[in-house]
Amino acid sequence: MKRRVFLQSLAFALAQRRRNRRPVPRLIAEPNPFPYANGLAFTVDGVPSPVLRFRQGDTLDFELVNHLDEPTTVHWHGLKVDWIHDGHPLFSVAPQESRSIQFQILNRGATYWYHPHAHQRTAFQAYHGMGGALIVDDEDQDRLKDRFSLVPGVTDLVQDRVIDGNLLVYNEGHPLHGFLGDQVMVNGTIKATKKVSATWHRLRLINASNARIYRIALFSEGQMVPFQLIGVDGGLLEQGAEVNEVWLSPAERVELMVDFGHPLMGSRASLQSQDFTELIGPMGGPTIQGHPIHIMDFLVLRKRPVVRPAPNFDGLSVVATPDFTDAPFRNIGLAGQMHFTINGAVFDMNEAPITVTRNSKEIWSITNNTTIPHPMHLHAVPMHVLERRGSPQLIRSQAVDMRGRLPTDLGYQDTVLVWPFEQVRVGVAWEIPFNTEQSYLFHFHNLEHEDRGMMVNVRVTP
Ligand code: C2O
Ligand code: CU
Repeated sequence: MKRRVFLQSLAFALAQRRRNRRPVPRLIAEPNPFPYANGLAFTVDGVPSPVLRFRQGDTLDFELVNHLDEPTTVHWHGLKVDWIHDGHPLFSVAPQESRSIQFQILNRGATYWYHPHAHQRTAFQAYHGMGGALIVDDEDQDRLKDRFSLVPGVTDLVQDRVIDGNLLVYNEGHPLHGFLGDQVMVNGTIKATKKVSATWHRLRLINASNARIYRIALFSEGQMVPFQLIGVDGGLLEQGAEVNEVWLSPAERVELMVDFGHPLMGSRASLQSQDFTELIGPMGGPTIQGHPIHIMDFLVLRKRPVVRPAPNFDGLSVVATPDFTDAPFRNIGLAGQMHFTINGAVFDMNEAPITVTRNSKEIWSITNNTTIPHPMHLHAVPMHVLERRGSPQLIRSQAVDMRGRLPTDLGYQDTVLVWPFEQVRVGVAWEIPFNTEQSYLFHFHNLEHEDRGMMVNVRVTP
């Protein structure tokens, strides 16, 4: 009898061990020659750059394996992660080595993404295909799906490229603007076309371009068709905003609801980036940033138009903004003509020009003293846009409140575009659960600039 109990518990213990030993999925950084012979990718089970889906509260667990011939690291853009697993270049994985990455997903439901963050190699690796979408679901997202009977949304990774035959062409690009491609690839496809039914669709757009800023608009038969902006970097807005256009700078995400049954909609629609060359500063020089570029097409299947009452985009979520009334100011100046700096500093792996205290709140007043727009990205915690001052005329004309904010400024942003000579005040609440010293990055999300050192460490003291 005793022996039987012993054997039973032994079997149980072994089964338990087997379960626990279930191998951790491998995220492999490797050359990926399809469709471009010089492509690179992060693969999971052989799938290149898969869309990773999680629910808030889940644990992300990967073994990052490097099969490239140079170091790499993966950053979970937009997520609140302890810095050891956040992709900081200090924790790069050498060729043929691996590293375990494990953390809990604390963020709200939203469209996030992952991409390399290797020292001075981010632009090259990302350009050649490393990176993908990371979708987090939560109750807000469930409610949205129920309300609009959405099928699990498609995610569109938008990237501009130069292609020569079966090769991706890359160079450091324009000294000021970084690399700008001459055509746009959506989820790896040039001239992407999607078939849609004549009803509401959700689009999740991620600007995974190295340097290109898009001024997104939808056209059908020569007419601009308005759409609803329902979400930004860090999740749903409180309510939808009907807009004709939306800015999407590198690393930013937007969630749009588009009515393909709209009265202005024909059988074909195209998503385009409109001209904004008038916004390039006097020192900008010849550039293709701001010239119109085609993104993707939609073929509207009209057979069975679904007639539904006009949806109500109110009460999508609650965007809780911390109170920043008594928060101290920190001035952040972006300067330079060819070599840009953040408060006079360029990246030094071991220096932290900015130190903040965990659980403190600050207002960062970011002033762009350069002639080109800079998308500023902060790791770990969102930026709450409080005010825009001195914006260029076009931006000012799109403001939705007295503080000069744009529709995309009303949610959680991890990347904020700061126009030439503009000052953007953002509230930053250092609410992180990690009680050891952390070092997070704050940088230009123009990847060529980032690699040239337009980046600083932000030390968070416990
Ligand atoms: Cu998406 Cu530090 O970057
Ligand atoms: Cu990031």
